[in-house]
Amino acid sequence: MYKIPANTLFLGKNLVFVPECHSTNTLALELCQQSCPPEGTLVITNNQTAGRGQRGNTWESQPGMNLTCSLILKPTFLSIKDQFLLSMVTALAIADFLKKQASNTVIEIKWPNDIVVNEFKIAGILIENQLTGDQFTNVVVGIGLNINQTHFASPTATSLSRMTGSIHDLQEVLNSILSAFEARYLLLRQNRVKELRDDYLAQLYRFRQPAAFIAARERFVGVISGVDEQGKLCVMVDGQEKSFDTKQIAFEHYYNKV
Ligand code: BTN
Repeated sequence: MYKIPANTLFLGKNLVFVPECHSTNTLALELCQQSCPPEGTLVITNNQTAGRGQRGNTWESQPGMNLTCSLILKPTFLSIKDQFLLSMVTALAIADFLKKQASNTVIEIKWPNDIVVNEFKIAGILIENQLTGDQFTNVVVGIGLNINQTHFASPTATSLSRMTGSIHDLQEVLNSILSAFEARYLLLRQNRVKELRDDYLAQLYRFRQPAAFIAARERFVGVISGVDEQGKLCVMVDGQEKSFDTKQIAFEHYYNKV
């Protein structure tokens, strides 16, 4: 059970808690189809039984241990070509929260929007859009953030508890995440895009460092030079800058997992 947070202006003020569901993203998308939930509606569960991840992956989360939730946004001010800014906002909000919890730990954003701590993934984001013509009607921002779980099937996963050695109160985590998200989202609403981009790049995993990638079934080493306006990863390869979308490139170890 979660309470409506007192520390936000609009995020989570309409809170839909279900003890169990397949996927909070699916539930949020269904809500948007059936009714007109206000912007900031939060769908949250204790037990997500069929969590969905990026690239058709699943998202596993032990019941009652982690944050599994979805926010409904209505960013009508945003052009759909700029949708990657929502990924940036979400990743930055989670990173902001984690940095407050463990100020001496390096938190990085692994393109496009995984949050990693010392190479271990602590959070995943799945953003799904509903469009009318070329305008956003609803955007569902799904967040899976590992908090108190300490054992994972995936050897590359970690949690806040593993970082801090403590048990964390999920309601407090929720309140802080929503407040961090709202602050970042309001920057976007104010069109303070440069700040968001700069902060994103400052925390981007392997930015300006050599990294191994797989694209078109070929392994190569390149240096990330940026992320373009469409959210494509820009990589310097043999002195040439190339840009890739999420279907075209993967960090080498991700590729090996699938
Ligand atoms: C990924 O890294 O692959 C994205 C994982 C996103 C998981 C969250 S948990 C809450 C929301 N509901 C889902 O079904 N998925 C997202």
